[in-house]
Amino acid sequence: RLAKRNVQRILRLRTPKECVKALEIVGQLADEMGVSVYVVGGFVRDLIMDREKWRWPNMDIDLVVEGDGIVFAYYLAELLGGRVREHKEFMTAIVLFPSSRLLDKNDFQFDHEEQELRIDVATARLEYYQSPAVLPTVELSSIRMDLTRRDFTINAMAIKLNTSSFGELEDYFDGQGDIKQKTIRILHALSFVDDPTRALRAIRFEQRYDFKISMQCERLIRNAVALQLIQKLDGKRILAELEIILQEESVLECILRMQDFNLLEEIHSSLSLSHANDVDFVTEAYRVLDWYDMLYLAEKIDNLLFFLLVMSKGVSTGEFKGLLERLCLSSVQVEKYLFIRSQLIGVQPKVEAWFEKKRPMSSLHLLLKNVAMEAILYMVVRLEKEHGEELKRQLSYYIYQVRHEKIDITGNDILRLGVEQGAKVGEILQKVLLAKIDGIIAGYDEEIVYAEGLINKIII
Ligand code: CTP
Repeated sequence: RLAKRNVQRILRLRTPKECVKALEIVGQLADEMGVSVYVVGGFVRDLIMDREKWRWPNMDIDLVVEGDGIVFAYYLAELLGGRVREHKEFMTAIVLFPSSRLLDKNDFQFDHEEQELRIDVATARLEYYQSPAVLPTVELSSIRMDLTRRDFTINAMAIKLNTSSFGELEDYFDGQGDIKQKTIRILHALSFVDDPTRALRAIRFEQRYDFKISMQCERLIRNAVALQLIQKLDGKRILAELEIILQEESVLECILRMQDFNLLEEIHSSLSLSHANDVDFVTEAYRVLDWYDMLYLAEKIDNLLFFLLVMSKGVSTGEFKGLLERLCLSSVQVEKYLFIRSQLIGVQPKVEAWFEKKRPMSSLHLLLKNVAMEAILYMVVRLEKEHGEELKRQLSYYIYQVRHEKIDITGNDILRLGVEQGAKVGEILQKVLLAKIDGIIAGYDEEIVYAEGLINKIII
């Protein structure tokens, strides 16, 4: 039998120092406790793939302990000066600890704020597994059993951390081969029956790494759809996967691939992209979102809200509510999203009228200042289709130039001009801002003169 591949060298080369240190501490503790411990899953996949995954100082370490994971987590937390959150029923625990524990005095520190890092610890004990029907009843080590229950070959590799075998790669299903072949492959034919959210995960990994879902895997996803397994899936689990997909760089590709597998419609009927121009609309929407991201504005986008608005074009309010409930959103979130959508439906014709009547930018600001950015971006796409490039240009200008426009004068200036404290002060400031937006005035001095003019008229 060939010796196992040892990936210690690339581990040290490709992962941040503090992360290697954490893994070494884990290995030493494993030795002392007389158990075998492995790092598994996404960490190993990304290491083998040599993907620039690390966004300092976030670490995403999943450990599997051949022994009691919870006891191990408590000892590890003690060593790292951290705390433990345990989930007894799953025999898992999370160790949370301050990053400074892994840095030497003279280590360069990126950020002076203390970061809390996490390590997930799971238990692999033979008696813990109900023997899966799909597996032959042969004696398997517990790590192998643990890996066998995972989703794809590329996610089913483990690296041993015990000191004498630090860096040894356990790859029973040829995850390395599938990385080379750029293939998403499952471990057994009932994988999507065990967990139908894996259909969404397959698409996410395929699009993220530019891999290809294997033919067998594709057939089984289509099978899971035909068996309505996605339809029956708990909305909370769909939502969790969907939210991860919506953060991916390849979000549009993932959505189109979901459509390809009919998964959207299976999640909820209102998500279907059944008309030919729906695909164009969604494509354009995500192009606009990319443009917005490139502006680096402070106003952040709620990816889920944007997705839901875009996907539910032409859907009734009742169906939209049904979709939100299908995804098990909290009642507060349902209310919020319904409100934003009704606001969008109400303001859209007003924006069209504003454009047709060639009204000034300040009137657009009055229409849109309290409208959510997700809804405004939706309008950029929607109204361009009907009114052409010029309206898109003006709305874009509103977004990056006008929406957060500030004036130089403050309430104190207005008080100094003799206005009494109260609502009037705010009204005057607002009018000065609108005049600035329309390019009537610019700079502190002109703002003061303009405010004075307003005050005189008000007094009269
Ligand atoms: N896993 C699984 N089936 C699922 C979810 C997760 O088998 N439905 C396993 C996989 O082995 C996966 C690991 O649990 O690698 C950790 O899952 P998760 O943290 O969700 O994903 P990562 O693989 O770490 O990917 P990401 O880079 O997106 O965090």
